[in-house]
Amino acid sequence: MPKFYITTPIYYPSANFHIGHCYTTIIADAIARYKRLTGYDVYFQTGTDEHGEKIEKKAKEANITPKEYVDKIVENAKDLWQSLNISYDYFIRTTDKEHEQAVQKIFKKLYDQGDIYKGEYKGLYCIPCESFWTETQAIDNKCPDCGREVKLVSEEAYFFKLSKYQDKLIEFYDQHPNFILPISRKNEMLNNFIKPGLEDLCVSRTSFKWGIPVDFDPNHVVYVWIDALTNYITSLGYPDTNNELFKKYWPADLHLVGKEIVRFHTIIWPCILMALDLPLPKQVFGHGWLKIAGNKISKSVGNYKDPREYIENYGVDAIRYYVLREVPFGSDGSFKEEAMISRINADLANTLGNLVNRTISMSHKYFDGKVSNPKLIEDIDNELLTNISNLKDIVENKMNELKVNEAIDEIMEVLRKCNKYIDETTPWLLAKDETKKERLQTVLYNLLECIRICTILLSPFIPTTSTNILNQLNTHKIEYNTLEFGNLETNITLNKPIILFNRIETKS
Ligand code: MSP
Repeated sequence: MPKFYITTPIYYPSANFHIGHCYTTIIADAIARYKRLTGYDVYFQTGTDEHGEKIEKKAKEANITPKEYVDKIVENAKDLWQSLNISYDYFIRTTDKEHEQAVQKIFKKLYDQGDIYKGEYKGLYCIPCESFWTETQAIDNKCPDCGREVKLVSEEAYFFKLSKYQDKLIEFYDQHPNFILPISRKNEMLNNFIKPGLEDLCVSRTSFKWGIPVDFDPNHVVYVWIDALTNYITSLGYPDTNNELFKKYWPADLHLVGKEIVRFHTIIWPCILMALDLPLPKQVFGHGWLKIAGNKISKSVGNYKDPREYIENYGVDAIRYYVLREVPFGSDGSFKEEAMISRINADLANTLGNLVNRTISMSHKYFDGKVSNPKLIEDIDNELLTNISNLKDIVENKMNELKVNEAIDEIMEVLRKCNKYIDETTPWLLAKDETKKERLQTVLYNLLECIRICTILLSPFIPTTSTNILNQLNTHKIEYNTLEFGNLETNITLNKPIILFNRIETKS
């Protein structure tokens, strides 16, 4: 069985997660579920990036230890992922003992082989806040947090020799044209960061304590990226390269990340892996941001609700569907409650919900829910039958290109055609004519089959609804090899129809 290792970024548990974090995680979940459906052995990983000065400060403000602080947020995050039906296989925390020990070993190995060296970190420092700032952050030499004067100071630090890997990295990009997607992000990396010259990277700090100690120099803690990025391998047992998980799943097939951290995943991470002499991930996809009223939804801006409120109001699949369908993958998109309601009403309540309800209700009304297929095909059926036969491959191509919104729309398009097919074939008129009984059975079978196939293809995106529909169809197989037309059994009786999505009335 082919394998597929997919990851989300590990999120900072500095505050509870918002719909932006949900966006990345829902897409990753949809891709993971789709790959499982198509026969891959999937390992889907998410987690939390728990160290650093910011969290240390937040915990101090709350008068608790950093570990107590992150524990609460992680618990909240796991609960959120459960309510969103996120099917991750592993949740890594950078405070896990195994991860901490592995990071220390990686740091030591890189130091021993000369890829990490001790130097001096120069920066603008705010003494009361104990924080370093860059020149662009500290406008007019003032601390962006407290407004007091910052001082140019230097502190002893370890550096990773990023510069050494510059040419190898360019060569790797050339040989792997699909390493970074969308392609615009690859050009941005090459032109803005790599070609102007890579600078060595500061990988330790002495100015805060909440981090993994450098074991051979305990004044230092490992700074950010060596701790965070290596999560993708430490979870598989690295540095034990004989670990079954590592042997099976590394290299990752897809790192899914927001556009602001593409740089770390396509420059720093490959260079660390080259230094460790490990294969590089196959692909990094940088998606856009969800915005509210033109602004990135963010913890520091605080412009968001608890995502659970949306789930309670609209249902989990409605949220999943909206974020997956609405934003062209790779671009920014806006999160608007009104747009979400229109989308739910148009696609889920009208197109999908009505179709399923009408078809199953008619099957009950005319045939007591019994399914049969006398195959009395007419010309008017051809277009729909061709569409449904081609759908599986079309969706597969779109998903391989990670065009999730387009894949979904292809399925919706077939469902829209099914509704049109009902209007054209007028089953209620066929039902009045005893000689048209077999034709009516055929029309209903065609519709039920299209619903079944579309439902299986929709299952990675709206899993609860898909199970619900298949249950109404009295068939439970969510299997890719049943996607050929004609697999719906004819000796079954459908269950009673249940409304899938109620139309949401808006106040205006
Ligand atoms: N801890 C680092 C990542 C380390 S990965 C080795 C980090 N964490 S974060 O909490 O800031 O989360 C960043 C990720 O959350 C983004 O890359 C993106 O995937 C997701 N998003 C956060 N806000 C978002 C939006 N408003 N819209 C879409 N995605 C957003 O960076």
